[in-house]
Amino acid sequence: MSWLVTGGAGYIGAHVVRSLLAAGHDVVVADDLSTGSLLRVPPAAHFVRARITDRWALDAIFAAHRIDGVVHLAGRKSVAESLADPLGYHRVNVTGLAVLLEAMAAAAVTRLVFSSSAAVYGPGSGQPLAESSPLAPASPYGRTKLAGEQLIRDCAAAGSLSWIALRYFNVAGAAEPALGDQGGENLLPRIFRAALTGDPLTVYGDRHPTRDGTAVRDYVHPADIASAHAVAVSAVTRGRRADVYNAGTGTGSSVRELIAMTEAVTGLSVPIRIGAARPADPPHTVADVGLIRARTGWRPRHGLAEQVESAWAATGATPVAPVARLTPVAEFAAL
Ligand SMILES: NC(=O)c1ccc[n+]([C@@H]2O[C@H](COP(=O)([O-])OP(=O)(O)OC[C@H]3O[C@@H](n4cnc5c(N)ncnc54)[C@H](O)[C@@H]3O)[C@@H](O)[C@H]2O)c1
Repeated sequence: MSWLVTGGAGYIGAHVVRSLLAAGHDVVVADDLSTGSLLRVPPAAHFVRARITDRWALDAIFAAHRIDGVVHLAGRKSVAESLADPLGYHRVNVTGLAVLLEAMAAAAVTRLVFSSSAAVYGPGSGQPLAESSPLAPASPYGRTKLAGEQLIRDCAAAGSLSWIALRYFNVAGAAEPALGDQGGENLLPRIFRAALTGDPLTVYGDRHPTRDGTAVRDYVHPADIASAHAVAVSAVTRGRRADVYNAGTGTGSSVRELIAMTEAVTGLSVPIRIGAARPADPPHTVADVGLIRARTGWRPRHGLAEQVESAWAATGATPVAPVARLTPVAEFAAL
């Protein structure tokens, strides 16, 4: 089958593209390269430079390729940036999705896998976070993801869309050194920067109601996120679906635990300074992954050590300790 992967030149999209190719699908990548890189797109995939808000460009892709379904990852993903530029976030993440859904309807493409986020939950959503937990996004970014889920649900009710939304938790690591997260804003790249430069990492709050006072997150390897997409692509193909699944590990790690793991992996020490807790930051965000496990059999295979080791290998910094247990070919062949 032939899948259009929007945002396929991005960090997670590049992993998803490889998992779909490894499963025998043809892949067309549409990406405006605003944060993505052509270097991440494998030669086996067809690349089109296109904005997700550009209906004409999307129509041209559907006209030129026989597309069986869409994996939609293109979007903006920074909570902090979304607070400063809510309109920009709504334009790309919500209007872009609406334009994509219109183009899909016009081309009679009825299968969709959507990148949602744990940011649709909020500080009051409880723990662990199940798909049925209250939805109360604390940022414009989270609200764009929730609006996206609702838009898809409404379109599916009015038409014949078969869809799955995956709410990713905190994605960390790389299945190949070339596929690392190049956005410097996530916690792990910031920890690496502190280790390499000696400039202290600001830890936002050490009085959270967690086991060591720092914020706890559910870190998940992008190869596991890619395998969740492979499962979702099969499911929306086999029959009509309207499902939302958490994609995490079910295990939380605190900022201090992530720092300790980085120090063990790199042999470097990570200087820190304690800053104020950020209002849009829930203290504890850990997935209940029971639903996706029960319904699809998917389960994550990589733990925190592999995430940190592979992310460190992807920085290209001189390894101080053994790194990268992952072998890329086996990694994708196993999906
Ligand atoms: N990284 C995470 O931990 C995480 C967690 C939850 C959800 N997500 C979601 O997963 C998706 C991918 O995230 P990522 O971490 O790979 O980010 P990324 O920035 O590496 O990838 C996003 C890709 O989308 C492309 N893009 C952005 N705006 C576009 C537009 N207007 N038109 C076409 N292409 C556009 C970028 O060039 C990039 O290649 C996003 O939708 C993000 O919200 C990510």
